[in-house]
Amino acid sequence: MTLYHSTLGQAPAVDFETAVLNGLAPDGGMYVPAEFPQVTHQQLEDWKELSYPELAHKVLSLFIDEMTVPSADLKTLINASFSTFSHPEVIPHQPLTDDCYVQELFHGPTLSFKDVAMGFVVNLFDYFLRRRGERRTLMVATSGDTGPAAAYASIGKTSLSTWLFFPTGLITDEQARQMTTILVPNVHSVAIDNCRNGSDDLDTLIGHCFADDAFREEMNLSSVNSINWARVMTQTVHYFYGYLRHAKQVGDLVNFAVPCGAFGNMCAGSMASQMGLPVGEMIVATNTNLVLSQALETGVFAKIDIKNTFASAIDISIPMNFWRHLYFSLDGDADRIRAAWETYELKGEVRFSPAEHAAFSNGFRTYTVSDEEILATTRSLWQQENYLLDPHGAVAVAAARHYRAQISGPIVCLATAHPSKFPETIRLAIGELPAQGCHDSLEAARSAGERKYIFDFANMQQEVPRVMRTVMTNQF
Ligand SMILES: Cc1ncc(COP(=O)(O)O)c(C=O)c1O
Repeated sequence: MTLYHSTLGQAPAVDFETAVLNGLAPDGGMYVPAEFPQVTHQQLEDWKELSYPELAHKVLSLFIDEMTVPSADLKTLINASFSTFSHPEVIPHQPLTDDCYVQELFHGPTLSFKDVAMGFVVNLFDYFLRRRGERRTLMVATSGDTGPAAAYASIGKTSLSTWLFFPTGLITDEQARQMTTILVPNVHSVAIDNCRNGSDDLDTLIGHCFADDAFREEMNLSSVNSINWARVMTQTVHYFYGYLRHAKQVGDLVNFAVPCGAFGNMCAGSMASQMGLPVGEMIVATNTNLVLSQALETGVFAKIDIKNTFASAIDISIPMNFWRHLYFSLDGDADRIRAAWETYELKGEVRFSPAEHAAFSNGFRTYTVSDEEILATTRSLWQQENYLLDPHGAVAVAAARHYRAQISGPIVCLATAHPSKFPETIRLAIGELPAQGCHDSLEAARSAGERKYIFDFANMQQEVPRVMRTVMTNQF
């Protein structure tokens, strides 16, 4: 049985189920497996023709043993999770010119790639909790897409009470309404006014709630943000799928361009590569919030002030999963990670040695995409290929195009949201909102009833726990 350790090295090792249900390790670190399962050439050959749910079953079975979740139950959980996707292939690929392919990760119920892992992870939570006869309270911070995915996945789960926190005005109305119009007893939306650092401020709020032992225990707090191991684990599957769709033969290299924010998705890609998937180049595509590009290019990992961009879901200054990536790259040296983390918390930045920098930047290229380039990429895809992408997908395609001439083999560009979630940017880019930029569920949400709590950044740390206590006392 694989054990899970904390990246900060000061929490007891736990089994898979405990790592998932805890979310964050008690020392504040993130859970990581003692070792990665490996895939063989033959397994990849055997998996070539599998559907997405079938492939997910193969890959996730490498992490989840039969004693923890019997194979038949795992299959049922996976099938239930992907049955909510509207596309028969679950994750289709759209060919562009020049051996580039868009991996459309947005056909889930809330129209972003977050559904791909969130549906399964929330179902898994519910499965474990019902088996134990327990309940948990999930606190979910969102830069626009995680919240709706968690809200939708929580509907009807009596084992869970799910609280979504979003920064007022820094996500689109469409994203906000996907949360506030879910009117079920166990899902609660909370808007926080005056966040200067977007969803990073909400991560701080949640960090404080977790650090309060009495509150954490009273509420049975957990998290399904990408600090939760099960989220990044589940996101490895779409790299396997993209690889098997585009490698001419098993063993050929396939490249990936990924719009990065908290680095969960890219960390999963890097994990797939460490499991033996023949991944070529990994292009870390970012907007003008330069934290990841600076870390990978210079070895200095520093907090920054957030700029608001058209790719707002990746306006993130603290990419939590970069710490997981650092842990893996620095050979699981938890003492080093803890020292770096303490420096980062104290000074707002940490400078890695040249050897460490070489280790964690190996295999990555970076590209920064300005708002102008997001618009230009969206426009050219629309005009030349009659294909509409959301601003985050445009970030990935812009980065892939930038490197196209230098990289051989297919480049799979991850399209992480449906364009209908960002209508204003689409209008700016192409001067209209065509049918491809609309979605019935978002149209319906425009006139649906809403429910939300509203607090100000200045007093959220007092008000949020107070309201959660009151509501939970009445709910359970
Ligand atoms: C649409 C979209 N694209 C990309 C990302 C970045 O993913 P990650 O935070 O895993 O890097 C996010 C979420 O943060 C997102 O909502």
